[in-house]
Amino acid sequence: MTVHAVVVGSGIAGLTVALHAVEHGCRVTLVTKDVLEHANTRFAQGGIAGVMFDDDRTEDHIHDTIVAGAGLSDPEAVRVLAEEGPSRIRELVSLGVAFDRGADGAYVKGLEAAHSYPRILHSGGDATGTAIEKALVARLRASDVRVVEHAFLVDLLVRDDRVAGVDLLVGDAESTPGRRETLEAEAVVLATGGAGELYAYTTNPPVATGDGIAAALRAGVDVTDLEFFQFHPTIIARGDAFLVSEAVRGEGATLLDENGHRFALDVHPDGELAPRDVVARAIADAMEQQDGRPVFLDATHLRSTEAETRAFLAERFPTIDAAVRARGLDWAREPIPVAPAAHYLMGGVTTDLHGRTTLPGLYAVGEVARTGVHGANRLASNSLLEGAVFGARAGDAIAADAAAATWAGPTVRSPRTAASTVGSTGDEDAPAFSRKALQRLMWEHAGLVRDESGLRRAASVLATWRLSIAAPRTEAEFEDHNLLDVGQALVAAALARPDSVGAHFRRDAGALAAAPVDVAMGVR
Ligand code: SIN
Repeated sequence: MTVHAVVVGSGIAGLTVALHAVEHGCRVTLVTKDVLEHANTRFAQGGIAGVMFDDDRTEDHIHDTIVAGAGLSDPEAVRVLAEEGPSRIRELVSLGVAFDRGADGAYVKGLEAAHSYPRILHSGGDATGTAIEKALVARLRASDVRVVEHAFLVDLLVRDDRVAGVDLLVGDAESTPGRRETLEAEAVVLATGGAGELYAYTTNPPVATGDGIAAALRAGVDVTDLEFFQFHPTIIARGDAFLVSEAVRGEGATLLDENGHRFALDVHPDGELAPRDVVARAIADAMEQQDGRPVFLDATHLRSTEAETRAFLAERFPTIDAAVRARGLDWAREPIPVAPAAHYLMGGVTTDLHGRTTLPGLYAVGEVARTGVHGANRLASNSLLEGAVFGARAGDAIAADAAAATWAGPTVRSPRTAASTVGSTGDEDAPAFSRKALQRLMWEHAGLVRDESGLRRAASVLATWRLSIAAPRTEAEFEDHNLLDVGQALVAAALARPDSVGAHFRRDAGALAAAPVDVAMGVR
């Protein structure tokens, strides 16, 4: 029997799974709610981490990943990531991704926070995601994968305790109402990305509305670690949110408060290159000290003269350089204002090492998945790598799984943080629902710094909105419902973890006594 697999999402993970599954003889349909290219992948600037140099070591990549994850990563998943990463990177090269090379022909080494070795490869300076997306989309368009664009995942079809396909809203746009369609399939792969749209400030594009996680929650599929939402330390704090890659700090840029003080060194010996959660909170603290005004990123000293710095920034970071200049700033001459923003969801649909979820036939890959790689805080540039490694593994598993008598999916690993909803059934003080009101609520009460009373307030307002919101008909309304479902589950998970660890920081709790990280075993 030819297995029909539906892949939902078109970032690095979705494209990889589709290409691998079709190679194994599956009939593959890839559906995406926008056009193929409009996935979060194309916004990835820094690059892709991997052990690609003779003097780097797989064990060091594993160690860095587990330490950044505050010891909560699954060591087996991290080993798979680090060991299989280089092959997947070489596969991308064979598809035409041109990682930047120096005058000697060797790959340029990039450094980002919490890496003990400069193992980040980048393409087009700071356009790595775009280069990868382009190459994968070109390969997909030349393959036998059927592509359906503007098809929004409404829900999973579940029959006889296994996934049976997807319910879609197809062709919804402001001028044309969409139509409902079902696609039957033996396997469904969620590759729908994250949920940055939950927050008032995010580096994510507007498509990141948690659709896959919400559909999984509604289908009773296990979802874990939603309390771990990573906030990137630096977006340009002027105009629309725009990411300033950690690679800029990797090149030596420093963070200054309004008095010109380099505050990151006060909180961690690695200063600007401390783990992301540490730097993001240090910025939030510094901003609080200066009545919420942004801090500054100083790149003016990266070369000996202003002219040399300007030329270097334009060549090494062309995308960011254009965004900086478009906002009327000159970062070779003066520090630019920056602030943190929601960036990446570490938690998600619980999977095993092949993307299998707790629902037979359903897989999850990329940001929507919780493979266990990232623990409480993702190491920089491990996200593209995770999408490539686990996307390939899931794509390789689908045909054989469909032929097997039993489903080898995961058993639930951390029920303590499994998502559930909490909250009262009516909050008279709740403001009227709007996407913006939701984003403000989440930013204020379930953002970088949390406490019980704020989380309870958020839970109560979210529950009220969920009960009162009208049944969805358009794509935007379905997205609102999804954001509410994921927001409720995230807040419930944050309430269930009273201690501070990694990206989940409770101001009403002492930090976990710095548990020594046993790299061989991980700690939980
Ligand atoms: C960045 O370039 O700073 C983002 C890369 C990542 O999120 O890993």
